[in-house]
Amino acid sequence: MRAVPDVTQVCNPNQSAIVMRTFENLLPKLVTCLALLGSACLMAGEVEVLHYWTSGGEAKSVAELKGMMASRGHSWKDFTVTGGGGQNAMAVLKQRVLAGSAPAAANIKGPTIQEWADLHVLTNLDAMASFEKWDEVLPKVIADQMKHKGRYVAVPVNVHRVNWLWANSAVLKKAGVTALPSSYDEFFAAADKIKAAGFIPVAHGGQDWQDFTVFESVALGVGGAAFYNNALVKLDRNALASEEMRKSLNVFRRIKAYVDDKSTGRDWNVTTEMVIKGKAGFQFMGDWAKGEFLAAGQKPGADFSCSPAPGTAKAYTYNVDSFAMFQLKGWEAQKAQGYLAYLLMGQDFQEKFNLRKGSIPARLNMKMDKFDDCAKTSSKDFVATSKAGTLLPSVAHGMAVSSAAQAALRSAVSEFWNNDKTTVGDTVAKLVAVAGQRQRQ
Ligand code: GAL
Repeated sequence: MRAVPDVTQVCNPNQSAIVMRTFENLLPKLVTCLALLGSACLMAGEVEVLHYWTSGGEAKSVAELKGMMASRGHSWKDFTVTGGGGQNAMAVLKQRVLAGSAPAAANIKGPTIQEWADLHVLTNLDAMASFEKWDEVLPKVIADQMKHKGRYVAVPVNVHRVNWLWANSAVLKKAGVTALPSSYDEFFAAADKIKAAGFIPVAHGGQDWQDFTVFESVALGVGGAAFYNNALVKLDRNALASEEMRKSLNVFRRIKAYVDDKSTGRDWNVTTEMVIKGKAGFQFMGDWAKGEFLAAGQKPGADFSCSPAPGTAKAYTYNVDSFAMFQLKGWEAQKAQGYLAYLLMGQDFQEKFNLRKGSIPARLNMKMDKFDDCAKTSSKDFVATSKAGTLLPSVAHGMAVSSAAQAALRSAVSEFWNNDKTTVGDTVAKLVAVAGQRQRQ
């Protein structure tokens, strides 16, 4: 536990309500309060938190947070909207905020943080950030995404790596696959063996965000980091129309032949379970999938393996879960919200939460000794790719482009995956139109 005051120990609601509104001088005032009255001034509040963490591994991760809030007397109100990737949650959040009843915090990521901050509905966290030295303990690439016009408005809790390929070790062994594929030639050779051995080669959940999760890893592996960055992050017209894009779409479509016919609409965690239970060999998915393997009692390196998606070992697509704090009325609510922001950035929370979630801490210089080899690789590769210029934001997970551009890319790719009559040329034309859309914004 850090040597900072307990923010539940507050005794002057009127004065502190003003303080809490902007978090200015919050902690020094709380120190004074605590010194004067000690625990006699305990007052607890409630936080309502919007998230979509409902799978087995996710529920265990969020339980850590609920427990920590409860241990300080605060109560937690779940505002869960089911649906992997968070699209449903974002739609419901919009309705709530428009109706004037925003939650205390919501899991919002990447450029969407800026979109909300532009509406002046988020709380400025700068006072806490400077007291707690967030600029020093966060990688710049993450800190920048948490800020709007230079001010902190969101708190990062982790770094998920998206470009992973998960595999069931026993299935691979039975199929005679002796090495994890590092290219698509190797991948398709392994997939053929898995199919011949009577297993489903690729577990895939047919939902648009999962289609795009696979696609962005394929594009990175086939076209390389510079292509990924130009086409999918910068939305450069030439890159979107390039030969690399055509090749990526062709490889993506080839993968479909290795997916079972019950894929349509299947949730990502039900899909991961196919790998866990030895029905399928591989799954392309971010490392929240590891949370499922762990929740099922499986061990990395023994029961399952994590390897970078083919061709992507020297690159890293990142996805940072973060909580934006909404402006609230009422001292109690603001106080609990302040404590939540403080807690989320703490080393204790970041370790416990990420051990379950499959991700790595967002904070720098955290001890990794309790983490498994997948997490250690992720942590090492995050630093290495950051130096090499191949650390890239995940488009599928809302880290790279506006929500409108993301939706347009997702829909073009998903249509291509689902409709075999849609040609590579049709899809390239739709993707290029997204470049035009960006220029008009
Ligand atoms: C990601 C999110 C993860 C995980 C996953 C499945 O976008 O960042 O935390 O929840 O979706 O819903």
